[in-house]
Amino acid sequence: MAHQPFSISHPHVLAMILDDPTHEHLLVALFAAFLSAILVAGWRLLSRHRPIIRDVKTEYPSTDIVGNFQHNIYPRIETRKGGPLARASEGKTLLITGASKGVGRSIAIMHAHTRPKCIILIARSIPSLDSVASELAAIDSEIRIIKASVDVCDSKAVSTFFKNLWYVEKVGRIDVLFANAGYLEPIVPFAQQDISLWTKAINTNVMGVAVVTHEFLRHNFAAVGGNPDGTTEDKNKKALQNATIIITSSIGAALTFPGCSAYQPSKTLINRFCEFLDAEYGAASSFGADGLRTFCFHPGGIPTDLAQNMPKFILDHWRDNGHDSPDLSGGFTAWLLTPEADFLRGRYASATWDVDSLLQKKQEILDGDLLKVNIRMK
Ligand SMILES: NC(=O)c1ccc[n+]([C@@H]2O[C@H](COP(=O)([O-])OP(=O)(O)OC[C@H]3O[C@@H](n4cnc5c(N)ncnc54)[C@H](OP(=O)(O)O)[C@@H]3O)[C@@H](O)[C@H]2O)c1
Repeated sequence: MAHQPFSISHPHVLAMILDDPTHEHLLVALFAAFLSAILVAGWRLLSRHRPIIRDVKTEYPSTDIVGNFQHNIYPRIETRKGGPLARASEGKTLLITGASKGVGRSIAIMHAHTRPKCIILIARSIPSLDSVASELAAIDSEIRIIKASVDVCDSKAVSTFFKNLWYVEKVGRIDVLFANAGYLEPIVPFAQQDISLWTKAINTNVMGVAVVTHEFLRHNFAAVGGNPDGTTEDKNKKALQNATIIITSSIGAALTFPGCSAYQPSKTLINRFCEFLDAEYGAASSFGADGLRTFCFHPGGIPTDLAQNMPKFILDHWRDNGHDSPDLSGGFTAWLLTPEADFLRGRYASATWDVDSLLQKKQEILDGDLLKVNIRMK
């Protein structure tokens, strides 16, 4: 028998209501309708304010080291309203790529609360950059804001941009680089890939980070009066002392997700690049313990424009169960600027890892040289 959906216009129910001289059925029907309306409105309200909660551990058990996740900015890494990181980038010059939206925008906003001297915003879309710049100015009108439309994959454009920073804007040493711009190709097996989009992912996530980092280092060496290639040894310490590069990587760096053959390896490669920067200019190099600080991190799972190429089941999961907040990355990267995070230099970490739980693992991480890319031999 076909299922008959219940409806208030069902002929029997309607007849019962109309034939009832006491209007008792009518009152019951009206009360039921009122109750349903309240329940629906309440559900909609609750859905809108559903907390950002997602059990990452059950999804990717092999990519966790702390077992204690955060999904939104929390008091320990708060930069706003006099939070513990309210001075994390005091007096510093910050450069953020991919700053027009998503994770990069949140990094810019959360760091605008930390008293930086200057924030330099890069992306391709000028209107979006203008809007982020206005948000920053509203937070702290004393911050110098520079914005530029630059394609990070275009090495000539990046080089021209840095020349402009030096000769026109007179920007000296840049203290922090957030190499954040990224692209995710549609997730399909390799033969089905549009090779130009596959290449775009490699170019943006690898070449985009490398080219900007190259110019950043050369800018800083030159800014202190040395050769841009870092061959004036007595100047190098000043160029890189406590300078920091934070690369937005991905949990995907540690996963083999079929269909993601450009994005995930590109993030693995960039983690490895982070290890090289640390080896060449960080604590282990001739620059001493005050050398370049380099980190790569996963910002969490967020339905940004980039993430719209994720498989539908993940987007549905985020819609139905909530997702991580992009603000988490703002707070987490502010914490990476503190000496407390030094043990993560040259390593990968996730913004979703509670920093106190991460600190409890410090010795284990150092002893095992964990959170690095390696080829397993057994
Ligand atoms: N969302 C997630 O769940 C997630 C998870 C793991 C890692 N990530 C990483 O987080 C980073 C930020 O991504 P998102 O999720 O915030 O995405 P998004 O909201 O789409 O932002 C991407 C940013 O990168 C900029 N960009 C892209 N290509 C560029 C290029 N060639 N030159 C200059 N700027 C470029 C975009 O600005 P224009 O388009 O204006 O240039 C935009 O500002 C990426 O590295 C991504 O891999 C994201």
